[in-house]
Order: sequence, then C-alpha cells, then structure tokens
Amino acid sequence: MIKINNFQEYEAAFSFAQEQPEAFWGEVAKDFVWLKPWDQVLNWDFENPTIEWYKGAQTNITVNCLDRHLPQRAHQTAVIWEPNSPNDEAVSLTYAELHSRVSKVGNALRKMGVQKGDRVCVYMPMIPELLIAVLACARIGAVHSVVFAGFSASSLSDRIIDADAKVVLTSDGAMRGNKTIAIKEIVDEALLKCPSVTNVLCFKYLGMPIHWVEGRDLDWSLEELMASDNCPPEVMEATDMLFILYTSGSTGKPKGVVHSTAGYMVYSEFTFRNMFQYQEGEVFWCTADLGWITGHTYLTYGPLLAGATTVVFEGIPTWPGPDRFWQVIERHSVNILYTAPTAIRSLMSFGHEYPERYPMESLRVLGSVGEPINEEAWHWYHEHVGKSRCALIDSWWQTETGGAMITPLAGITPEKPSYAGLPMPGVQLLLVDSEGNEIHGNNVEGNLCIKFPTPGMLQTTYGDHERCRQTYFSTYKNLYFTGDGARRDEDGYYRILGRVDDVINVSGHRMGTAEVENAINEHHTVIESAVVGYPHEVKGQGIYAFVITEHAVHDQDQARKEIIDVVSKLIGPIARPDKIQFVRGLPKTRSGKIMRRILRKIAEGDATSLGDITTLTDPTVVKDIIQGALVAVNTA
Ligand code: PRX
Repeated sequence: MIKINNFQEYEAAFSFAQEQPEAFWGEVAKDFVWLKPWDQVLNWDFENPTIEWYKGAQTNITVNCLDRHLPQRAHQTAVIWEPNSPNDEAVSLTYAELHSRVSKVGNALRKMGVQKGDRVCVYMPMIPELLIAVLACARIGAVHSVVFAGFSASSLSDRIIDADAKVVLTSDGAMRGNKTIAIKEIVDEALLKCPSVTNVLCFKYLGMPIHWVEGRDLDWSLEELMASDNCPPEVMEATDMLFILYTSGSTGKPKGVVHSTAGYMVYSEFTFRNMFQYQEGEVFWCTADLGWITGHTYLTYGPLLAGATTVVFEGIPTWPGPDRFWQVIERHSVNILYTAPTAIRSLMSFGHEYPERYPMESLRVLGSVGEPINEEAWHWYHEHVGKSRCALIDSWWQTETGGAMITPLAGITPEKPSYAGLPMPGVQLLLVDSEGNEIHGNNVEGNLCIKFPTPGMLQTTYGDHERCRQTYFSTYKNLYFTGDGARRDEDGYYRILGRVDDVINVSGHRMGTAEVENAINEHHTVIESAVVGYPHEVKGQGIYAFVITEHAVHDQDQARKEIIDVVSKLIGPIARPDKIQFVRGLPKTRSGKIMRRILRKIAEGDATSLGDITTLTDPTVVKDIIQGALVAVNTA
C-alpha cells in the first residue's frame, strides 16, 4: 500500500503513477491477501473497452475486509449502527462478530442454492444487516446488486429482471425520520414480475405484519441462527464480477455498472487511506446510503479494508431536529465525516446555532461528495462544523470510477472552495473541446475525459457491453468520457461544472431526464414532456417538467399531483418533479428534436439570451412557455 504523507510524496507518487502505472499499481496492491499473485497488472484497450486489473490473481474481498484483520482487530469495533431515533440504543459489531455474521449469512445463501456468479438483489434499509448482506454475497462469490430502498416496486423489478437475480435480501420495513416504510410489501409487488427469483431472505427488523410466501420467503434470523459460522471464502479471479450497481444516464433505462473484484478492492482502500489520511483507530462516518456507490466504496469496502470503524446511520439529517448529525458525531466521537452538499445546504438553512452548540472536538477531516459544493456551503461546513480547524476535501468521482478521482488529500494537497482540486495519483485527466481536441494549458474549460484506466474503473454494463462502449468510450477516440464539464484554473486545480449530457444531479443523485420523461408520459392525459434541471437552493438541481396534455388542464393542481404520483410509483419519490408547467407545444427543430438548451434557459429564469430560435418549427411556442414559466407552480 502506498501511503502519501506530504505534498512532496504526492508529487512523487503522481509522477511514478504517470510514468510507470503498472509498477505503481503493483506496489499499491502488495499488502492485500492474494490467494494467487497476478500474471499481469493491467491489460487494457479503450477502443473495444477492456480493463483487466491484476489478471491471473485470485482473492476474496471479504478475506481482505475481515479475515486478515482478525489477528489484531478481532475485538475492535468494525461497525457502529446509529438507529433512526436518538432514543434507541446504538449497536456495535466487532470485526470478529461481523466476520461471524457474514459467514453465517453466506452459508444461508449457499443453502438456498446461491453459487458463485449468481446475482443477488439487496433491497434494505440502513441497518447492520445491509452491510452483512453485501459482504455475505461477496464471501460466496455472488454478485450483489444493491437497490436503494427509496426506489419504487417498478424500478426494483426492472433491476431484478435486468440482472436476472436469483434471490432478494430484504427486511419487513424501514424507518426514516417519522415515517415507517413497508419494504417487504414493495418487494412482494416487484416480484410479481420477476419469475427468476426463487427465494427472499427477509430480516424481520420492525416486527411489522407482512405477507409471507411459503416456500419462497425465508426468515433471516432463523436461517442465520441455524447456519455455521465457518464459511470458506469463494476463490475469486481478479476480474470476476463483484457487484452491479444501477445508475441513470442520458437514455431511458438505468444501466448496471459492473465492478470487478481486485481492481475495485485495491482502489477502494488506496483512495480511502489517502484522501481521508485515515489514521489507525479512527471512527469514520459516511452518510451515504449503501444504495449508491459512495455507500459501497466509503461506507463499506474502503473502511473495512483499512480496518477502520465505520458508522452506519439509519436516519435523516433533520429528524427529530436539525442537530441530529452533530449529536451523532459527539455520540460516537466521529473523526472523519463524509457527506453531500445537499445535506449541508439543508442544515445551513436552520442556522449555524445548531452546530455551534456542539464542539465536535473529535472531527479531523470533513468530506463532500456527489455534486458541486457552492462556496457558501463550503465555508459554512468548514467554519461551523469543522470550526475552521478541519481539513475539507471536495471529492469528485462517479459510480463508474468506483472511487475518488479528483480530490484533495486531507491536509496535504491544497483545498480551494468549490474546487475538487488535483487528481489522485494514477488519474490521467484531460479536457477536450466538442470535437475531442485536447485543450492544453491552464485557465481553460472543457469536457472532462480520462485517458488511462484506474483500478476502480467499471468493467462493463451488465448484459450489454456495447452500451458501455457507446456511453463512455465512443464520444472521443481512446478516451473515457465522464459526462461532466470542468474548468482547470491557473494553478491546475479542477472545478467540476456539472453534467454536459441529459443527466441532472438532484441532491447528489443522478437522474436521467429521459427516465423521468418516460414516467411522466405514462400519465393518461400526457402526450409529451421534456425535463430539464434548474438551480435549486438546497438540492443543487431541481427537476423542471414541461408537459403537453391531450386537452387543456382545468385543475392544474390535481393534474400535477397525479403526475407526481405516477413518477413516484414508476421510479420513486426522489424523481418527483419540483416544477411542472403545462405547455401547448415544445421548442422543436424541423427534424423533431427538442431544443433543451432553450428550456434550460427558461427553467433557470434567464429568458433573455435564448440564442437563435428561428430554426424551430414553431417559434411562437417559446413566447408562450416564457409567459407560463413566470407562473409555473412549485409542486413541493
Ligand atoms: O456530475 C458529477 C457529480 O456526480 C456525478 C456522478 O454521480 P454518481 O455516479 O451518482 O456518483 C456520485 C458519488 C461519487 C458526476 O458525474 N459529482 C460527483 N462528485 C462531485 C460531483 N460534481 C461536483 N463535485 C463533486 N465533488
């Protein structure tokens, strides 16, 4: 493992990784437990995308997360679970306990007939069993596909069908703030469309009344109790699939990003240790849900690979009060906090008196991830949470990169508000113009691309390699295109400007505009819709939908409510439009293409610089839309 301790070492590591990437990544991988060493550090080709790290090696990621720590850390806390309600007791699991429970659940899965390579869907709340589920899959070589438990039954069944999952792991219910969510009910509904699923392992967490399908449904606690805690780890080839995680893109259907065993493992620990400058014995808290990539890499694998203590929080930042985060930090003496700008902005709106009440002396590093952090939020986080004495890292990366790509290394490489800063060693970036020509020098803007693989990079998109090629590797020759625009300033620091494709980032969650439009169009009176993002004070971007209906809408409030219900049902509440404007037409070119540029400008409230609209089939619709936008009603 290469640990960078100061700026000179960062520069040396960066040059080493640039000049001899294979030697560098070979060195980083040395300290893991390998059941067989690799024959080749890297085999790659961006044209016909192939990215194979540590080819020929064999390992199991859970041996590296759990077994290898047991001699020194059997009694150290691996996981602290902070429940939804502050009145309930937190639960801790030591590395030995986690190892034992993962082994038992691994054996329970094997008993159900789950074998290496089978896909297992995990749809659970943020309880310790969620981490156990994921690790149990990895233990036996099953490919986990975690679906965020805020997605609807319809989204869940789409993902189960796409992955052809054999088993679903779930719970009876979930708690979120003052709400109880009937999780198993959603699974039952989803499974009506999923004949491939033979078993459901259900953790009866809340003791809620649930529907039980004899023969299919199994009681988690009973199965765990009956299983042996000796679960030999499946021998995994370095390039064997570790997990699938669905993410939204420009086209309608979310795609299953596939990560492999060894590369992802090496990159998770390397980035965890270096970006947070993790120190032995520290308590690390990543507030992301395991349903997203941040929850995979920095709630689960990264910290456990490094032998850290990871906090799993079930609740939300604002319940029962806006000091919940600060309480958790004090309660568990959290040293490193990793959260999203949306959470910071939402807490900011309650005033700094809340964090001011808590000294939070344990905090050493603050992290931000998932969306651009505006300067005001950066400073608030730094001053009121970090008391101006903590390092603050704004880390840019993606589901597809598996781990952080552009980020300060806490306290080592420079921080600049609203900038992600410098790339991690091994990350070779470039900015290109729309034709794919490299934009050299500093003080420039362009489309952000990557020219050399990193070990965390995706392998494929599940079941559709051509889609992977087209989405990431075909826009610019021999480059991976991130979909983001970026600025490189006079010092060479990167600032992410946001997506340049039809993806919007709502509260740090990626949402494909086509996906939301498809859902809206399912409403019986909707003929067509166009969705764009617009600046939102808390969420970063809000969802603005322009909707054409069959007949003029008389009761607009009712129609909006119905459309929101359809979107919630088809995707989930996170995709609910923030604004819905009924329009008679959309700005279309003669070839029928919607000019989203115009809609984006209108949604941003900037209708003065729409550019040339004479090429539209009917330029008069623009005037009507502008007028309508002035009275567009928030749906919130
Ligand atoms: O647009 C970028 C934004 O989130 C996208 C990736 O989303 P997802 O795959 O869901 O992963 C999120 C967590 C890693 C990126 O293409 N993004 C992520 N981090 C940042 C960011 N935008 C600005 N600053 C960041 N730190």
